[in-house]
Amino acid sequence: MRIIVHHPLAAKLQALLSAMLPHAEVVTSDEMPASRADYLAVFNPPKALLEAQDASLKGIINVAAGVDALLNNPSLPPNVPITKLRDAGMASLMLDYSLYALLHFSRDFDRYAEQARERRWKLRFPQPRSQWPVGVLGLGAIGAQVAEGLARHGYQVNGYSRSAKTLEGVTTFHGEEGLQEVLQRSRTIINILPATPATSGILNRTTLSQMPEGGVVINPGRGNAIMLDDLVELLDSGHLRGAALDVFPHEPLPPESPLWQHPQILITPHSAAPTMMEDAAAQIADYIERWENGEAIPSVDRDAGY
Ligand code: GLV
Repeated sequence: MRIIVHHPLAAKLQALLSAMLPHAEVVTSDEMPASRADYLAVFNPPKALLEAQDASLKGIINVAAGVDALLNNPSLPPNVPITKLRDAGMASLMLDYSLYALLHFSRDFDRYAEQARERRWKLRFPQPRSQWPVGVLGLGAIGAQVAEGLARHGYQVNGYSRSAKTLEGVTTFHGEEGLQEVLQRSRTIINILPATPATSGILNRTTLSQMPEGGVVINPGRGNAIMLDDLVELLDSGHLRGAALDVFPHEPLPPESPLWQHPQILITPHSAAPTMMEDAAAQIADYIERWENGEAIPSVDRDAGY
């Protein structure tokens, strides 16, 4: 059985998978850029690798939670089953990032930074967490854990997903009206929706205006969701208080982007939840073993885009 790996940390993934699957031949796409495989374990694979595959390809594992780059690749072979990383260590990192960004605004660290620039000593009395209702958009393997984790931290959490979901300690909503409801009820929203045609620009002037005055937008998910010009307009007008952005429609964010200098925006370089290679390799090995044993594994719905 041959597994070809394509990833920025391919050598590490190769070593881990070789140890976990001793009977498999695990090679990197540098070693075999255009050879057939039984399985591909890939993130954003080159066309040549996809085009070299034939009917013996049994499955593709997306070495990331988001499958947008893979599904948008015109050389992706039709019909072959696709799966993706599910949590694999990323959910707790996303929860860390979300909490950090939420506390940055809810505990006034944004205002203290401004005060420090002016050498102004002024206590701002903290508001209780119950006054910072949070909306989590996207309740997949990662979003669900972020929502439940924030609820465990004492926040009132509203969750939005495309289809109905039930989560511990979270008030859940779905569908178009559900999104409106979550935006209206939440002082902070956290976007963890997958990048699909349906989520493109979902946070725009109209939807973001539904958030209460002083709202905060946190995006550790995908950059396609937010219309950035609309976000900046609402920050500048004072309707929104701040934003923490980890992902952008085009990455890296170019040095000339005015967003870097915007006083109400915190920027990080797609670093909220990097792929944890040990966890990822264990999940990939498990998928391959189950595929080999003819067991069903959760697959990506190409039409839905996640
Ligand atoms: C990272 O962005 C991922 O999709 O896992």
